[in-house]
Amino acid sequence: MINKIMTIIITGGAGFIGSNFVFHMLKKYPDYRIICLDKLTYAGNLSTLAPVMENSNFRFVKADICDREAVYKLFEEENPDIVVNFAAESHVDRSIEDPGIFLQTNIMGTATLMNACRKYGIVRYHQVSTDEVYGDLPLDRPDLFFTEETPIHTSSPYSSSKAAADLLVLAYHRTYGLPVTISRCSNNYGPYHFPEKLIPLMIANALNDKPLPVYGEGLNVRDWLYVEDHCKAIDLIIHNGKIGEVYNIGGHNEMKNIDIVKIICKALGKLESLITYVSDRKGHDMRYAIDPTKIYNELGWRPETMFKDGIHKTIQWYLDNKEWWETIISGEYQNYYDKMYDI
Ligand code: NAD
Ligand code: TYD
Repeated sequence: MINKIMTIIITGGAGFIGSNFVFHMLKKYPDYRIICLDKLTYAGNLSTLAPVMENSNFRFVKADICDREAVYKLFEEENPDIVVNFAAESHVDRSIEDPGIFLQTNIMGTATLMNACRKYGIVRYHQVSTDEVYGDLPLDRPDLFFTEETPIHTSSPYSSSKAAADLLVLAYHRTYGLPVTISRCSNNYGPYHFPEKLIPLMIANALNDKPLPVYGEGLNVRDWLYVEDHCKAIDLIIHNGKIGEVYNIGGHNEMKNIDIVKIICKALGKLESLITYVSDRKGHDMRYAIDPTKIYNELGWRPETMFKDGIHKTIQWYLDNKEWWETIISGEYQNYYDKMYDI
């Protein structure tokens, strides 16, 4: 168990889950030094980190995880104990349009970080991965769940790049003895979620009385986890998880897309006639469902937020923080939206 005062590099900490993790760590461990390394791509927002920018135990560094020189320089300056890698291209639809940057950031970036860890020495490298590496499950087999033993079987360029990174992480452990852990989480939702993903997109469109684009028939199932629960799980893994191990994180919160969109309409007092069925995603995964037995048993982690509570907290956050997402949807993101959705 790691319990001294730590210096932690959190990559991708200006994105959705990474920023929530930065807040969680600074609050729970006020003595730790937390460094956020982020390239600030379209998905990274420095404004998100404004509340902690003045904290003397926090440092923000704008850099690309693929930039060896910048990464090594940061290791020399900060001598980190732990690296938690959230930095990634994360949107499946964008990976279908243009896979190249996914391979670069998600695979080569991971390698660059681990090479730095080998050179300078760390006590833990943690890779934030996804349940999407397991592919999908059929809708007519509700008895099936992803365990850590489920074979890797990816569907999209995004999930393939994440799977390649996972294999590389495990290879660095076996070959070089790098002290690694991996977590594979289901779909997250909560504050600071970029409005190109299902839940924040539907909230933002509904509030603007715009069509709600549901792919196919909306029957695909995702296993939703409130982002704070994910952060708590990673906190437990980096402190108490076993080196070389993979942990699945998810909370038996399976929902069909269409049901989520209807919940959002109802909560915002909008008519379901806004729902617009659009062409299905290519290679669209049907169902994700995590079996979290290992992290329950080994680390005592349990999801604390039920979907019915988490979705209302999330909707309220988007109502209270309109400036945050309105700035995003009025910027570069608009070009992407116009290209992807002909509605
Ligand atoms: P996000 O897209 O909101 O944020 C990604 C962050 O990484 C952004 O701040 C971006 O600027 C930064 N980044 C991208 N490329 C970079 C690079 N080359 N160098 C440095 N920084 C870079 O993503 P998210 O939803 O917060 O996901 C974080 C991690 O969690 C990803 O690794 C993703 O694969 C994984 N994950 C996400 C979910 C989910 O539901 N969102 C579920 C399971 C796993
Ligand atoms: P998304 O939030 O992109 O996460 P992921 O693809 O990583 O699971 O999508 C969640 C589900 O919502 C997925 O089945 C695709 C669907 N979806 C829509 O129906 N319409 C949309 O506009 C988007 C972005 C997603």
